[in-house]
Amino acid sequence: MKYAVVIPAAGQGKRMQAGFNKQFLMLEKKPVIIHTVSVFAHDPWCERIVVVANENEIEDMKQLIQDWKIPNDIDVVPGGSERQDSVMEGLRHISAAEIVLIHDGARPFIRPLHIHKLVEKAQHQGAAVLGVKIKDTMKRVKDHLVLETIDRSYVWSVQTPQAFQFPVIYDAYKKAQEEGFRGTDDTSLVERTGFPVHIIEGDYNNIKLTTPEDITIAQAILKKQTEED
Ligand code: CTP
Ligand code: MG
Repeated sequence: MKYAVVIPAAGQGKRMQAGFNKQFLMLEKKPVIIHTVSVFAHDPWCERIVVVANENEIEDMKQLIQDWKIPNDIDVVPGGSERQDSVMEGLRHISAAEIVLIHDGARPFIRPLHIHKLVEKAQHQGAAVLGVKIKDTMKRVKDHLVLETIDRSYVWSVQTPQAFQFPVIYDAYKKAQEEGFRGTDDTSLVERTGFPVHIIEGDYNNIKLTTPEDITIAQAILKKQTEED
């Protein structure tokens, strides 16, 4: 089953405090974005990859992809000021694909097994997101006061990829744009249209590199994955 993937990588990485876009951080001598793109470049189901980069990093990104001998048919397109703007730009460059995935450049540990489960779900149901059950007890809090303990069995932590039949996500993005809605992930834009979103259980290793301590965890995950290969 074929799919296209949009990889937003046009952030600033402020919370990582590296002084540059975290996509270019090295993990075991390989840039984060190359780890991520490689997974899709080696997946036979993936027929199109669009990487969304900062306008002033487009040439560096293209060069990196070339240096690491990632197949040439990867498009690098300019992003926008927020993730949602960047994804919209990426979606504009996808046309014929039936199924489109959106996957953060900063999540290098995504596994083909989970990509394929998601693609199959999106093919049948229209919208699917990867997530994991939360481990901690969750409380709703206001002004440092606990309002209630949330029934944990109903709470999942969602990741990317998020997968869609193309019109489902494109129409949701257009609607959000027209109505000035800002969401923190892609499915939230779909949810507000009333379209049902399915969840596929992934694994805890599919972390997003967000703050400096994530690098230590990432190195450990990478070491384990390398030993298993
Ligand atoms: N992203 C993007 N365009 C933006 C903002 C974010 O393409 N304008 C991408 C990031 O590059 C990242 C993904 O969306 O791969 C998830 O965003 P996040 O983890 O928030 O990354 P940053 O925005 O770079 O980090 P921060 O919020 O700490 O500045
Ligand atoms: Mg951000």
